[in-house]
Amino acid sequence: MGMAVKIQQFARWKQAQRPIAVLTAWDLTSAHIADQAGADMVLVGDSLAMVTLGYDTTLPLTLDEMLHHARAVRRGVTDALLVMDLPFMSYQTNRADALRAAGRAIKETGAQAVKVEGGYTAMAETIQTLVQVGIPVMGHVGLTPQSVNTMGGFRQQGRSPEAANRILQEAIAIDQAGAFAIVLEHIPADLAKTITEKLTIPTIGIGAGPHCDGQVLVTADVLGLSSWQPPFAKQYANLREQGINAAQQFCEEVRSRQFPPS
Ligand code: KIV
Repeated sequence: MGMAVKIQQFARWKQAQRPIAVLTAWDLTSAHIADQAGADMVLVGDSLAMVTLGYDTTLPLTLDEMLHHARAVRRGVTDALLVMDLPFMSYQTNRADALRAAGRAIKETGAQAVKVEGGYTAMAETIQTLVQVGIPVMGHVGLTPQSVNTMGGFRQQGRSPEAANRILQEAIAIDQAGAFAIVLEHIPADLAKTITEKLTIPTIGIGAGPHCDGQVLVTADVLGLSSWQPPFAKQYANLREQGINAAQQFCEEVRSRQFPPS
């Protein structure tokens, strides 16, 4: 077992240019896989809504569902920093709701930080409020899946100079609000490079090119468990196919009376 990761290490890793590896988890098994692989951070991402619960978007996921999954992940993480996504509409309504949702995440699951999407002024104020009461926050800009309806799909963001500048300003506001790290999702690599150079906090990229301070992937994509993957994901194994083959073999052996052995 390694040393448990602390929030303070993230700033040091940026300074030392030591890339940060982040993986998601949604239950005990995926938590064991991510933690024992040596991820610096395990994120209970709300992508679990699509990847493990079968929703079309992350929007229907409730705070109670998220807390249920985060508690299971907590039981499987010993070394990595554990961060929980706040689900859609558990924190956007007002700062009191955000405090309540983030407070439940910390108290009821043992997560050490929360992640929120978006960087407009109100969100920066929300981040500041959470940080002031002692709840570390990770920001998330670029493609923010909780805004899928305003974005018109899961497409790359920040292509025009105006859109790129807006994302840069949001990232700066999140840094100034006191977040300890920020996810940059599906934006051009040169924009991610500019943001990474301008911010004091580490940038964790997903579909944002090679210049970020760290990278995150959804573990179901890494393992090849998902039925669909975004174009920027890399599949390091094919567990879905292997799983179907193994289960098929079991069914055949039961029907041919090869299993159990006599
Ligand atoms: O929900 C999630 O898994 C995420 C990561 C992709 C950053 O937000």
